[in-house]
Amino acid sequence: MLFSTNFNYRIMTRIHILSSTDRPGSNALDVSAYASGLLCRYAETEVFSLEDYPLADVAGGKYGNTPQSVQDYNSRILDADGFLFVIPEYNGSFPGVLKVFIDYLPFPKALEKRPVSLIGESSGSFGALRAVEQFEQILKYRKAYIFPERMFIQRVDKNFDVQTGLSSELHQKLFEKQLKEFPEFVESLTKQLV
Ligand SMILES: Cc1cc2nc3c(=O)[nH]c(=O)nc-3n(C[C@H](O)[C@H](O)[C@H](O)COP(=O)(O)O)c2cc1C
Repeated sequence: MLFSTNFNYRIMTRIHILSSTDRPGSNALDVSAYASGLLCRYAETEVFSLEDYPLADVAGGKYGNTPQSVQDYNSRILDADGFLFVIPEYNGSFPGVLKVFIDYLPFPKALEKRPVSLIGESSGSFGALRAVEQFEQILKYRKAYIFPERMFIQRVDKNFDVQTGLSSELHQKLFEKQLKEFPEFVESLTKQLV
């Protein structure tokens, strides 16, 4: 039997970060890596990328008959207490591969009552606000608990650096605040659900 005599011991909250595009060399993956560096002060984190999604295996429509490769990918991502999606803006919305990912998640349970935090990034001046808010509609349909603090990284190529973060001091503070407070949000919900 495993036990601990250290009364300060607590199991860390696990947060999975999903870089929500399959575009090679994406900013979303850089932002995810940077976010992970901040988040890991407060939670156990792991970064996933939709670049690794077995997209070819769902070609032709495998709805109701999810391929094993997709089930395995989904299980690895879903094995966490909370999720952070890093979403770029493509044509005023989020990437199509992210919708495919959602469409093959187990229904209805996968995201139900599960805490989700959101970061948008784009080359435009709205920082993927449209993409994130459209994705939020889906999260609401899937009954996820959306963390209200969100970050929208505008003109990402100019304003973000994978080593140093955001060039604006104010935005960097807000970014750090979101990543510090999200694990607290996850923990408060986890306690209520126990
Ligand atoms: C297919 C595609 C569509 C895009 N559409 C938009 C757009 O609607 N608005 C915008 O601000 N930027 C748009 N961009 C630019 C991306 O938001 C920007 O390059 C972003 O950093 C790309 O994210 P990624 O590097 O994570 O793939 C688009 C880029 C791609 C590849």
